[in-house]
Amino acid sequence: MELHDAIYGRRAVREYLPKPIDQSVIKSLIDAAIQAPSAVNQQPWTFTVVRNERVLDQLSRESKAHMLKSHPGIRESDHFHSLNDPHFQIFYHAPVLIIISAIAPAPWFVEDCALAAQNLMLAAYEEGLGSCWIGFAQGYLNTPEGKALLGFPISCAPVAPIIIGEPKGETKPVARKEAQIRWVS
Ligand SMILES: Cc1cc2nc3c(=O)[nH]c(=O)nc-3n(C[C@H](O)[C@H](O)[C@H](O)COP(=O)(O)O)c2cc1C
Repeated sequence: MELHDAIYGRRAVREYLPKPIDQSVIKSLIDAAIQAPSAVNQQPWTFTVVRNERVLDQLSRESKAHMLKSHPGIRESDHFHSLNDPHFQIFYHAPVLIIISAIAPAPWFVEDCALAAQNLMLAAYEEGLGSCWIGFAQGYLNTPEGKALLGFPISCAPVAPIIIGEPKGETKPVARKEAQIRWVS
């Protein structure tokens, strides 16, 4: 696939087929992720693959509760109304969640992990898979309870929870705002 096609064709996918993804495919996506640049070539990332539906359901419930508790106003927001729905699973029942974390906080670990995440999502698209960064999970994942649920060492810093799976259908592109560009002379 041409890079241009991947950059312009990737979408945040929120509907998945209930089909498992081969371990070899998951490994190839992680291999693409670690080709990302990182500050001082620290490669601070570690990858946690979650495929157990019960764990994903529990993580979804706890993440929603954490979001509602830590941002009380969010309940009324149109954008976040789904968090009030007990049936809403924040991972959209995708078969795989890959959490890209820093082994320990270090300068630029967020940037490094985010670059790895973009590589992973573009590589997934090339494989015909959908992906979506699930920011809703980040708050809870960074609590001591969230880390304990997934067996993360306390020093670990989860950055990018990315769901992966076979898309159920087409995802329409989301319009982009015109780029604001200032040319400084
Ligand atoms: C940091 C970050 C957090 C996001 N969190 C969520 C989320 O919790 N749930 C969700 O459905 N989409 C989430 N998204 C996906 C965005 O909504 C999506 O990328 C955006 O609407 C643009 O659509 P596109 O990816 O199809 O171009 C997140 C994206 C990013 C980069």
